[in-house]
Amino acid sequence: METLFTVTDAAPGTRRHTQRVIGELAQSIRERDFITYQHCRRVAIYANRLARQMGWQRAAARELALAGLVHDLGKTWVRNEVLLKPARLSESERETIEKHPVTAAQLLWAFDMPDLILDAVLSHHERWDGAGYPQRLAGMAIPLGARLLSVADVFDVITTDRPYKAAMSVPEARERIHEGAGGAFDPTVAGAFTTLLDARRDFRLTAYVGAEAPDELWRAHDSGDQLSPA
Ligand SMILES: [Fe+2]
Repeated sequence: METLFTVTDAAPGTRRHTQRVIGELAQSIRERDFITYQHCRRVAIYANRLARQMGWQRAAARELALAGLVHDLGKTWVRNEVLLKPARLSESERETIEKHPVTAAQLLWAFDMPDLILDAVLSHHERWDGAGYPQRLAGMAIPLGARLLSVADVFDVITTDRPYKAAMSVPEARERIHEGAGGAFDPTVAGAFTTLLDARRDFRLTAYVGAEAPDELWRAHDSGDQLSPA
């Protein structure tokens, strides 16, 4: 019988293993909901650029990007009537959706993913002012990676067409991020993001991001590195 899998050096705890697990989980998002999958890919790239802009080492920035790639993994557990509902959600439907960061973090925990990834995914809907979810953390109590992911996530959501909302222009989105400093967002992170937007006119990615494997994704989009401290 043909073997389906080959044993490699990707032992648990290695970066290679992390990348492989995240890659497979991202594929499961793709199978379930292509729109969310594309959103995750753009958020991964934005998060990578933002982390580099803030002086993160390349390896840490890439790990954060892996978190971006699966940050909405928990939505694959939400049934279609709720996930794809083209109308206002009821209270209980909203509660169901709001479980997605916890669901994702539990899955990632079961796969022994690094803390940076777990924390960023679990807390990507927390707000600087404490009005987010699931734990209503505020300020510096929110893991830094989550504070970055949150800005990258919101930027992508508002600059993309949604069933009931047309995409904002980049200047409008820049304004929204700027206004959100101290409310939704860590002011330092929001500031770094607007600086990045100002420095790079082609910052916004097209709706479809082509490359497949995570390492191809970085290679194709690491050009943002030249804007940031080495
Ligand atoms: Fe989310």
